Amino acid sequence: MSETHSHAGPLSALRLQERLRDTRLFFGQALRTFHATGSILPSSGALAHEMAEHIRHRTDPDGALSILEAGAGTGAISRGIAAAMRPGDTLDLVEANPEFAAHVEELLSTDPDMSRIADSATVHACLVNDLGTDRTYDVIVSGLPFANFTADQVKDILDYYFTVLRPGGTLSFYGYLYTKGVKAVIAKREDYLRQARTSWVVQDWIDRYGIGSEKVFANVPPAWVHHLRKPGNDLRG
Ligand SMILES: C[S@@+](CC[C@H](N)C(=O)[O-])C[C@H]1O[C@@H](n2cnc3c(N)ncnc32)[C@H](O)[C@@H]1O
Repeated sequence: MSETHSHAGPLSALRLQERLRDTRLFFGQALRTFHATGSILPSSGALAHEMAEHIRHRTDPDGALSILEAGAGTGAISRGIAAAMRPGDTLDLVEANPEFAAHVEELLSTDPDMSRIADSATVHACLVNDLGTDRTYDVIVSGLPFANFTADQVKDILDYYFTVLRPGGTLSFYGYLYTKGVKAVIAKREDYLRQARTSWVVQDWIDRYGIGSEKVFANVPPAWVHHLRKPGNDLRG
């Protein structure tokens, strides 16, 4: 059996087949709903690994984490989260596209990387801020395509994340490299201005709460991962 290697370990033929199925579904949905999907391919293992940084390296090495993943898509980043989770951790997977949500639900019983966290994970087929504020998280991992949203939408989502994040908790999200330059050349003026306003909001949050940013070149397209921490001190980390 031929094997390729990923951050999660050897990629068996069965896993490769599953990733191809994910990619087909993702690409099909991207063609239908590019605005909400935001990309034509699922994230790479390298991007998933970086997005799970604060699940792997936790402030309290013995504490269990309550985790939210927003925009799970076909589960590319969920797999990185699953690989970093420890017994006692819990995960809410939120996905607005019902086809993706159903797919992720299925992965929890069929996919070898995801089924190990099936008892600790819940899939919610809704918009992330419709989850409500009667819950709190230690770690939020967001795959939402902020660059496609308006500045007000992004501000509402970031406000929501920081409402449900515990003091001292972390938010990780990514954005693609070079998209602003490409948009400056090909986008209509109003779309370019919309994206510029959105990126000011994102940059403002990074300036206020950022604790580190990493470039991930092994992704199509290459991405910046930004890690933010909510001020305050909570030992659960
Ligand atoms: C760029 S894709 C990322 C998918 C996956 N995490 C990955 O990295 O391959 C963004 C995902 O967010 C979902 N999405 C967009 N807006 C959302 C919202 N407000 N709440 C929940 N999910 C949303 C889309 O349906 C899509 O699956």
